[in-house]
Amino acid sequence: MSLFRRKDVSALQAEVASDHSLKRVLGPVNLVLLGIGAVIGAGIFVLTGQAAANYAGPGIVYSFLLAGTACAFAGLCYAEFAAMIPIAGSAYTYGYATLGELVAWIIGWDLILEYLFAASTVAVGWSGYMVSFLKDLGINIPAAYTSAPYTHTTPTDAGLNVWRLFSEGWSATGAVLNVPAMFIVGLITILLIVGISESATFNNIAVVIKVTVVLLFIAFGIGYINADNWTPFIPPAEGPGKYGWDGIVRGAGVIFFAYIGFDAVSTAAQETRNPQKDMPIGIMGSLAICTVLYIAVALVLTGIVHYSQLNVPDPIAVGINAVGPQLAWLRPIIKIGAIAGLSSVILVMLLGQPRIFYTMSKDGLLPPVFAAVHPKFRTPWLASAVTGGFAMLFAGLLPIGLLGELVSIGTLLAFGIVCAGVLVLRYTDPERPRPFKTPLVPFVPLAGMGACLYLMLGLPVDTWARLIVWMVLGLAIYFLYGKSHSKVQQAAR
Ligand code: ALA
Repeated sequence: MSLFRRKDVSALQAEVASDHSLKRVLGPVNLVLLGIGAVIGAGIFVLTGQAAANYAGPGIVYSFLLAGTACAFAGLCYAEFAAMIPIAGSAYTYGYATLGELVAWIIGWDLILEYLFAASTVAVGWSGYMVSFLKDLGINIPAAYTSAPYTHTTPTDAGLNVWRLFSEGWSATGAVLNVPAMFIVGLITILLIVGISESATFNNIAVVIKVTVVLLFIAFGIGYINADNWTPFIPPAEGPGKYGWDGIVRGAGVIFFAYIGFDAVSTAAQETRNPQKDMPIGIMGSLAICTVLYIAVALVLTGIVHYSQLNVPDPIAVGINAVGPQLAWLRPIIKIGAIAGLSSVILVMLLGQPRIFYTMSKDGLLPPVFAAVHPKFRTPWLASAVTGGFAMLFAGLLPIGLLGELVSIGTLLAFGIVCAGVLVLRYTDPERPRPFKTPLVPFVPLAGMGACLYLMLGLPVDTWARLIVWMVLGLAIYFLYGKSHSKVQQAAR
């Protein structure tokens, strides 16, 4: 039973009140911008077109609604916790307070998949857009230095055979390293070490640029919509996952990636001036704004160009091209928007991860170095440097296609556990004051859990196998280190 020892919510609240090592400078506007910073990125600028072309057609609009609804359920649950226990550990700590240490460790380990791996994945997207933008300016970076040295194709018949999944399917690309991807991760890591206010300022500028670009696309694209492209709005089904309702659901699983990140707002809770009020605003506000923008972009994009032409890595640019020379001026602007957008996603992901490490280390589940706060900058600088170092390695070396789906499955698992946590705490600790209450309990948490599981089940078997291997690795570390060093366990002994 000691594996399920919980952290007391009152003790956690006292811990937040007494820990002044991180600087409290963020307000509600910063938080909403932080959320938008993390959300609008590779999902909308890269994946939307492929999801529309391959799975949903114009019905991708419904995919966005579906994935957005699942995120709204999870977001409402996050908001209750983030207002009640405003601590940098986010979902990890919520798990600790409700479902016990083992589940907390599982979430903490799982969130590495979300934040650290998403940062690397998006850095590779950044590299692609940057290289293409520089090329337009006449600057050519040799191809050997703009992609990873290996690619990986999952052996189709490997099923759950973990050995084959990891050992087969590799081939050399002839490239050496993805230098631009490593460069952006390194640069942002330095920024994050230097300070939270500096990072928020950088994020705010990037968000203004990307949202302006998205709005320009909607405003100028809308006049060129040809309703023929929308007929039929939901193309007739052509087999499992291809068009029809099935395709809309598969599309929702793919573009779920586009919503990942709004939860990262909760990792900044200890750097927020008034978290009880501002956490729910930051989480739900950013999610609502992004959902509206996504649906508008999806409508305009599938209206100006037939979905069958969208199976490309730069669908928004292809949409602009389809209109003809009238909108050619918008093309470079779209690239700048994407570069800014992807930069801020990397920033918020790399901001979230070290803050979770920081809290796990304070709890004794990770070595004490992860909790080191820089005396001058007052940021968790060692955890940031370790996170940045690993993210650089993955971004430079690994075939990132492999990690994208892992990011989604890891995030869905964390969302599901947070929803379960809200429900559990409502029964185990009903009287505790909740500055923000998830509405319609138990419906919202149950619907959140159901929606996350549904989207997880839609992901391929090999992604599940990789998730399980990752978790086994994490459990080994917990039993070899965390369990014996845990403060909660030590106190109980
Ligand atoms: N939601 C983030 C993106 O789409 C991860 O880039």
